[in-house]
Amino acid sequence: MAKMNENFLNLKESYLFIEISRRIGEFSAKNPDVQLIRMGIGDVTLPLAPAVVQAGKKAFDEMGVKSTFRGYDDSGRGYDFLREAIAGYYKGFGAEIQSDEIFISDGAKSDSGNIGDIFSDDCSVIVTDPAYPVYVDSSIMGGRGVVFTDFLGSDLPEKADLIYLCSPNNPTGAVYTHEQLKKWVDYATAKNAVIIYDAAYESFITQPDKPRSIFQIEGSRNCSLEICSLSKTAGFTGTRCGYTIIPKELMLTRSDGSTASAYSVWSRRQSTKFNGVSYPVQRAAEAVFSPEGQRQIRDNIAIYQANAEIMTNTLTELGVEFSGGINSPYVWFKCPNNMDSWGFFDFFMEQANVVGTPGEGFGKNGAGWFRLTAFNTRENTQEAMKRLKNILK
Ligand code: MLT
Repeated sequence: MAKMNENFLNLKESYLFIEISRRIGEFSAKNPDVQLIRMGIGDVTLPLAPAVVQAGKKAFDEMGVKSTFRGYDDSGRGYDFLREAIAGYYKGFGAEIQSDEIFISDGAKSDSGNIGDIFSDDCSVIVTDPAYPVYVDSSIMGGRGVVFTDFLGSDLPEKADLIYLCSPNNPTGAVYTHEQLKKWVDYATAKNAVIIYDAAYESFITQPDKPRSIFQIEGSRNCSLEICSLSKTAGFTGTRCGYTIIPKELMLTRSDGSTASAYSVWSRRQSTKFNGVSYPVQRAAEAVFSPEGQRQIRDNIAIYQANAEIMTNTLTELGVEFSGGINSPYVWFKCPNNMDSWGFFDFFMEQANVVGTPGEGFGKNGAGWFRLTAFNTRENTQEAMKRLKNILK
């Protein structure tokens, strides 16, 4: 008999972005002529940078020639050329990691869910609420208990095993300072816990004093791993490439009290369940870290950052409380007139034809809040803000 993993019964009925798509579908079926401005899911709108496309095309050509054709990436962890490019990029902002501590993957979403495989089912998980729903849902699927706290961890439990942190934060756009992150590192060290640090939005940091990686924090290598993605950094949402960094020092405790390196356990997991990212995509990803690639992706990010500024200026003008938008492509604001977040979602879609993300979908503390993304065109962002002003008049 194939028994169900009944942990799935403890999940909310639908994943946040699927519920949003369902509501959009229902609205569009009733209003076929209405063009919605989509500022909900954080999906990029600008195309891949030319240097990236060129590198990917060249690699595809190599795949069509016998002497340069490649089959499996034997290590399954990614090619050295890409891992070295990433290690070099981290070095640029003062985070010392070794290229062989990097595992290339198809993105941060799968890694942040799959990483649970290397931990015991009875580990408890700390999540800062509001949070990207994958941390909570994948913990629940694994049968793990989740304890919530706020971004700064002002109310931390006595026992801690796994801690998900995300900075710049999805959804609030808040960013840890070195001191705040150091507190988390000290807490994790004291509890012998592991921080799973999601840095997917690091490239949006504009304030140079803010850490872009947990590995800029002293003591972090013994208690943290980091997950990152090129989705938002370089427009890879449809191309798929990310990575996880596991320092060799990071140890997991076995039931007999001895330790095992997290790096080896993840390596074992990946070699069994994952066959790596395609060679052309890894070559395209390598180009992201070239000087030309960096110049081109920074131009795209600057466009999104200017959109974020349009939104934060509008919210300031309207006197609406908000966070984010400075070091983040997300702007997180209090729903006007004390509306609840799904109520405001429907109201904004129906009255202004703009789609955002209801804060409640990110957790209890997101109730009454709303998230908009800067991943749109300047024209659409301006138009959406004009409509927001109109409906709030
Ligand atoms: C989001 O909108 O929160 C993200 O785009 C979702 C994701 O990266 O999976």
